[in-house]
Amino acid sequence: MHQFSNQWALVTGSSSGIGWGVAQTLAKHKINLILQGLEAEDQLKDKIENLKKQTGVKIQYHSLDFSNSELFQKFLSELPEHAILINNAGLQFVSPVQDFPIEKWELLLKLHLTIPFQLIQNFLKQKLQSGRIINISSVHGLVASVNKSAYVSAKHGLIGLSKTVALETAGTGVTCNSICPGWVKTPLVENQILDRSKKENISFEQASIKLLEEKQPSKTFTEVSDIAELVLFLCSPAGKNITGASMTLDGGWTSQ
Ligand SMILES: NC(=O)c1ccc[n+]([C@@H]2O[C@H](COP(=O)([O-])OP(=O)(O)OC[C@H]3O[C@@H](n4cnc5c(N)ncnc54)[C@H](O)[C@@H]3O)[C@@H](O)[C@H]2O)c1
Repeated sequence: MHQFSNQWALVTGSSSGIGWGVAQTLAKHKINLILQGLEAEDQLKDKIENLKKQTGVKIQYHSLDFSNSELFQKFLSELPEHAILINNAGLQFVSPVQDFPIEKWELLLKLHLTIPFQLIQNFLKQKLQSGRIINISSVHGLVASVNKSAYVSAKHGLIGLSKTVALETAGTGVTCNSICPGWVKTPLVENQILDRSKKENISFEQASIKLLEEKQPSKTFTEVSDIAELVLFLCSPAGKNITGASMTLDGGWTSQ
């Protein structure tokens, strides 16, 4: 049995990619799931039913756009007690700073920083004896890339928030850490590869290789399951004294 078995984990942005991978791994360890994504419930019904059947855990799914403040407040007020919070929902928008639309800036900051802040506030009010907050930041929380000003700013901010929460919760049984992946092949990155293959008139495969060669020395994508295993480790008893850390899974990206 896992130390958090039969308790609930909230995993935001868990309808696809990293969030779904983390959710599957937690479910295998009998941790009940509160899932959230933009997709309608119908679109996920089959995969959620399968996961319930395979693992026997309870699963709630909330189809919710976090930019709707009223619906977000309702979601907050209806959350069951949860011992694990994974702030993972996110999206990318690229543009040079001088052309960056303010609406996109505000949306990215809200999604990657303000929503995690509010979910952490809500989590801490539960005053649990033991709990885990894990923020999915990025290598872009540690270093920058061109045309990603909002994403880079928000992800740096999320690491700052994690460190502050780690200090405020130190010794309480709650830990707070950031995970900083490099390139992971999920819909978020596949869209960037697709844009590049169109722009440079090259195949999806060639665009993937170029993307990796530019930034990620290992020249291989980080797997969703690698991130899920790290989450599981942070949620294990061995993770009890790891707090305020920013853990990279980036094939050497930030060592350059
Ligand atoms: N894929 C990568 O290479 C990579 C690298 C570093 C960090 N990350 C981070 O990992 C997290 C997950 O990304 P992913 O790659 O799995 O992407 P993804 O596109 O597969 O998943 C994103 C999730 O966020 C949800 N979401 C998007 N906009 C939302 C909104 N307005 N309101 C509520 N939910 C919304 C989506 O429904 C989805 O569930 C993000 O925070 C991302 O920044 C990804």
